[in-house]
Amino acid sequence: MSDRMKGVASLACCAALLLMLLGCEEQKEEAKGTLAKAPFGKTAEGTAVDLYTLTNAHGLEAKITNYGGIVVSLKVPDRNGRLDDVVLGFDQLDDYLKGHPYFGALVGRYGNRIAKGKFMLNGKAYTLATNNGPNALHGGLKGFDKAVWQAKEAEGKDGPALELTYASKDGEEGYPGNLTAKVVYTLTSKDELRVDYAATTDQDTVVNLTQHSYFNLAGAGSQDILEHRMMLNAEKFTPVDSTLIPTGELRGVKGTPFDFTSPTAIGARISQDEEQIRFGKGYDHNFVLKGAGGSLELAARVTEPTTGRIMEVYTTEPGVQFYAGNFLDGTNIGKGGKVYKFRYGFCLEAQHFPDSPNQPAFPSTVLKPGQKYKQTTVYRFSAK
Ligand code: GLA
Repeated sequence: MSDRMKGVASLACCAALLLMLLGCEEQKEEAKGTLAKAPFGKTAEGTAVDLYTLTNAHGLEAKITNYGGIVVSLKVPDRNGRLDDVVLGFDQLDDYLKGHPYFGALVGRYGNRIAKGKFMLNGKAYTLATNNGPNALHGGLKGFDKAVWQAKEAEGKDGPALELTYASKDGEEGYPGNLTAKVVYTLTSKDELRVDYAATTDQDTVVNLTQHSYFNLAGAGSQDILEHRMMLNAEKFTPVDSTLIPTGELRGVKGTPFDFTSPTAIGARISQDEEQIRFGKGYDHNFVLKGAGGSLELAARVTEPTTGRIMEVYTTEPGVQFYAGNFLDGTNIGKGGKVYKFRYGFCLEAQHFPDSPNQPAFPSTVLKPGQKYKQTTVYRFSAK
């Protein structure tokens, strides 16, 4: 080969290498997905809020607003690759502002119920608003689900990520201590919606953060969720009184309508004549997860037979509230004008047990200055 030819060959080699490297970069970019921001309207106080669109490498898409940290829509493929929105919600911010049953929201400072809105901490009595019969529910009259969170794009480990921060003041909704809560939503390249929570306080307080998405794997607003098959990784649940406050007992699920240790249709036993089912008007109960050790463990696997969609829930939390949408009654008109009727969505709210501040035998929800509250919950989607 002449020198000139050698020169040309090595130049070609370099060019090929460069192209390959560029290709890799592109692939990396693709694996990261994208995050876009658009205005979503203004709250009653005139605060502007945004709607963020997270798209992963496979085209899964989550729309999340910094109003209440609400997951507004979540599009995942069925067994034929057809994307459909699998969470209940509204097209417009105004519909969220009018009030709704926590569709897609981040719930805090204390998710679930506290009996009679009262608890003692370090010998001091605290009183919360009673907004659910005689009890306090989901953080009060203006819980974290109605707060405007500070939003910024985060360095996602494995996909586009949105970081939301909310500073809850000492005394807000009756809770002690200035609490800073940070939640990162990531739409990963493993087709997961990952939720990482963290919080710190400057005074002893109680914290129980959760996510309140209503899922329907057949598509939001298409039908009820009774044919979904569900496995819960729980051998016990916390039975409740007629106001849905745990009695303190951890009851075995074996031989009861609460046994989801093997995949069972949600609707198979939901109308059984059983006291706990009567109290919940169906399922509205906290299950004691087998993992519960602070590491990420499988909590639930739900499959939808007509579309083949599968959702797995992994969490670091000791419990999950399984709520079968028993209070949905068709008064909420959702996205695209679809009517959300009785049991058109189900929630799997990974959390500490309800009423923990009044139940010394339950895992503690107390957070002290210098400690860091952490929880991670992952919703993984696939189809078969
Ligand atoms: C939680 C509760 C339910 C109900 C819903 C919202 O899941 O456990 O009883 O209040 O929130 O409607």
